[in-house]
Amino acid sequence: MSEQGLSQNELKRQAARFALSQYIQSGMIVGLGSGSTAEIFVEELAREVGKGNLHNITGVATSDKVETMARTFGLSVAKLDDVPGIDVTIDGADEIEPVSFALTKGRGGALLHEKLVAVASKLEIIIADESKLVTALGEKMPIPVEVIPFGWQHTAARIQALGAQPTMRVRDNGSFYLTDSSNYILDCHFGPIGDPAGLSMTLKGIVGVVEHGIFLGIAARVIIAAQSGVYEVTR
Ligand code: A5P
Repeated sequence: MSEQGLSQNELKRQAARFALSQYIQSGMIVGLGSGSTAEIFVEELAREVGKGNLHNITGVATSDKVETMARTFGLSVAKLDDVPGIDVTIDGADEIEPVSFALTKGRGGALLHEKLVAVASKLEIIIADESKLVTALGEKMPIPVEVIPFGWQHTAARIQALGAQPTMRVRDNGSFYLTDSSNYILDCHFGPIGDPAGLSMTLKGIVGVVEHGIFLGIAARVIIAAQSGVYEVTR
């Protein structure tokens, strides 16, 4: 630890280790989230399995990237459709509103598969450093909205009519970002959102929208790593 305290990566690792020690047991089917914090969890999980401290763990990945990573680390991985359900999923988030447990997710582009894995899980646990806490969703980050490529500009116009500023997500080479389900992502700047439930329903009702990054009523626990220590909030 430096004089400035723990780095953001060290905080993420603390949250990951806390989740691992409190919630993961041998024999579990574990949902593997995406993003840098969730990837640290996968690394820590693989280390414990490698040491023989955990046995018979099956991971279900929320992105192709994490699936490859988990396999590289020697974890056994199954597809979502090959398991009856998931015992616990450990994932990250972009924004966490800790009073109602509302989240935004999808900066890493995996929001659709993350939501599918989350709703198939008995327990969804979010791990994050304290920088992710907000008082209202949309305060710091745009809402990622996954849309079908066909007619996407018309879909974007329908979202814009709600008062957002949609921006097509692009790769470093300028080409449109493609999700693992071969869709586009529009990052939609709404500013602080007063009614996340209303916006969630409205976005889902727009033709061309596949899914969006507002997660409501999904996370059961949030584990926050702060400079003052790790703490857990339960819904
Ligand atoms: C991936 O699509 C996202 O939902 C991530 O879980 C989220 O962006 C958090 O990522 P970091 O842990 O890298 O901040």
